[in-house]
Amino acid sequence: MTIGVFDSGLGGLAIARAIAELLPAYDYLYLGDTKRVPYGNRSQETIHGFTARALDFLFENDCRLVVIACNTASAESLRKSQQEYLPRNYPDRRILGVIIPTAEAAVEAGGRSVGVLATMSTVESGAYERELKRQSSEITVVQRPAPLLVPIIENDGLKYAGPILDDYLEGFESTDSLILGCTHYCVIKDEVRRRFTGPVVSSDEVVPPKLADYLRRHPEIEETLSKRGRRRYCVTDLTSSYASFAGRLAGADLPLEVVSI
Ligand code: DGL
Repeated sequence: MTIGVFDSGLGGLAIARAIAELLPAYDYLYLGDTKRVPYGNRSQETIHGFTARALDFLFENDCRLVVIACNTASAESLRKSQQEYLPRNYPDRRILGVIIPTAEAAVEAGGRSVGVLATMSTVESGAYERELKRQSSEITVVQRPAPLLVPIIENDGLKYAGPILDDYLEGFESTDSLILGCTHYCVIKDEVRRRFTGPVVSSDEVVPPKLADYLRRHPEIEETLSKRGRRRYCVTDLTSSYASFAGRLAGADLPLEVVSI
């Protein structure tokens, strides 16, 4: 069986790439819902509906375990997917999100206040704040939505990102560490690190070792995973700009397969 990696679009390829670099033997199926991206300004109900369709596709295609790399889908739909969708549809499969491991990494980085830069839906869900405070009740959380970053990153507009980043990061002057709470922000982590002096928590660095640890702790899942090093990259819509963005994220041209979900 396969490991699925799901994102609202292509940003999750940075996380899929990092996972496959650390754990190359497994088979992976990536799904980017490029037809419906962005999720980051939609309602919880809509995001959960989109996520359920993506999960249907991934589980129908032999995924034993799905990593929801998308922060927005993790924030708005993970709990409901684990508590309602899985028991009803695929009780023997598993879904992991990125909020808990990323919050853990921020708490491990130390400090009393944590900043969260994320999409509007992730910020409004309060998922990071809840999780950070659950892990350490003393922590202060400062959140800021950064809606302009996703389109800039997708459209290869990094040269325009400087002043926008300067403005967004102003809100975090008093925080000790900063969570990049969106798949796309992995692409600009170096620019952020040049501007923010404390630890910057980026999911492409956090999720792969946490997944390796999960697989070590769950041999009953790990033993069912096939290890032929296969990769399949699926999207729900494909244009030339998506193809070139995917290539930039993956570091190579990717064979993107269009699927209908
Ligand atoms: N993938 C989303 C996330 O990590 C960002 C893009 C979107 O808005 O769909 O939150």
